[in-house]
Amino acid sequence: MKKQQICVIGAGVIGLASALHIQEICPESEVTIIADKLSPNTTSDVSAGFWMPHLIGSTPHEKIRSWSQATWDHMTALAYSKQASEVGACLVSGYLLSPVKLDPPLYWDQVLGFREVSQEEMANFPGAKYGFFYTTVMIEVRRYLPWLMKRFKERGGNVQQKRISSLMELSNQYEIVVNCSGVEARQLVGDQSVESIRGQIIRVRAPWLKTFLMVTNENPDFLDAYIFPGAQEVVLGGIEQVGDWDLQHRDVDREYLWKTCTRLLPCLQNAEMVKDWTGLRPARTSVRLEVEYLRLGDRSMTVVHCYGHGGSGVTLHWGCAKEVAELVQRELNQGRQKMSKL
Ligand SMILES: Cc1cc2nc3c(=O)[nH]c(=O)nc-3n(C[C@H](O)[C@H](O)[C@H](O)COP(=O)(O)OP(=O)(O)OC[C@H]3O[C@@H](n4cnc5c(N)ncnc54)[C@H](O)[C@@H]3O)c2cc1C
Ligand SMILES: *[C@@H]1O[C@H](CO)[C@@H](O)[C@H](O)[C@H]1NC(C)=O
Ligand SMILES: *[C@@H]1O[C@H](CO)[C@@H](O)[C@H](O)[C@H]1NC(C)=O
Repeated sequence: MKKQQICVIGAGVIGLASALHIQEICPESEVTIIADKLSPNTTSDVSAGFWMPHLIGSTPHEKIRSWSQATWDHMTALAYSKQASEVGACLVSGYLLSPVKLDPPLYWDQVLGFREVSQEEMANFPGAKYGFFYTTVMIEVRRYLPWLMKRFKERGGNVQQKRISSLMELSNQYEIVVNCSGVEARQLVGDQSVESIRGQIIRVRAPWLKTFLMVTNENPDFLDAYIFPGAQEVVLGGIEQVGDWDLQHRDVDREYLWKTCTRLLPCLQNAEMVKDWTGLRPARTSVRLEVEYLRLGDRSMTVVHCYGHGGSGVTLHWGCAKEVAELVQRELNQGRQKMSKL
């Protein structure tokens, strides 16, 4: 029997994880990834890889919770597994601070050891008045993506590096197309609700720092600064510019990051700068994960959309990928039933 052909557009963390899950639960299909950019050139490669639901519009809370929980379980298992060093997965503990009183974040009971910070402990952080301390999990996405890609290829997956300008190009080759095009969905599907939230980070070497630090303000949706010590490097960030599509690194942003982060944690002053990275978070009113039946001339095509993860693509990827694969499986089964009735 001819294998059913599935195409996944995108080789970021969402596309790769979706492709792997489809291979797993639809073994009778053949999966091809088509992507313009591959690691290390995707937005996902820029990500700090820190597990935290953040900047995801008004995506329903129960969705955020179930996708992020599935991802939490996966990332935590990786952090304790033999693969941890290969993908740079580790648990990290630290502070979320603010000059104003904060409600506990939505995810407070998903992370470990969540507690309020006492005033004595707060004395270490001039400027901050309130805060929480907890343990979460991180991954090095630049190393994690090649690891996912290797597994995808080992299971017989195909990869084509090219740009798709219209879905038409795919209509007679694939039964189902999975759209994991990230921030470029705006152009590709003409979805005007996709907006960029620009980010720039500095990666530094400071192996003496083991504690993460984030500072927020009156609007707890946004962070003024964050310092995330990963397996190899520390990520300094806090640039969240809505509606900015500029992929160039900016000196003014680098200076802001360096000044703000070394003021927060003077122990960073002797850190060695490794690299600047800039990326565009694919923000949307809410994550789009659903099936659409498109008519293209006299053909019809089934598309499973999965994009618009904002500042949480890594945090949600494993749970979203699982749901994408289940939708693909359901569509394949329905297609088969239709065929057998004819
Ligand atoms: C500075 C910064 C820090 C971040 N930190 C975190 C963090 O700590 N934790 C977290 O959870 N999230 C974080 N994020 C957010 C996270 O990076 C994104 O949500 C995530 O990368 C989105 O993944 P994706 O696979 O949808 O998109 P991408 O990684 O952008 O992948 C999209 C893929 O689609 C392909 N594509 C698009 N259009 C086409 C086309 N027409 N034809 C062919 N291919 C196409 C691209 O080439 C690419 O391969 C951060 C983002 C930034 C910018
Ligand atoms: C990533 O981008 C650089 C610079 O544009 C390019 O030289 C390199 O080949 C790209 N890597 C991949 C895997 O596409
Ligand atoms: C992916 O979704 C976006 C947003 O709807 C759309 O513009 C684009 O055409 C879609 N791409 C594919 C290949 O379906």
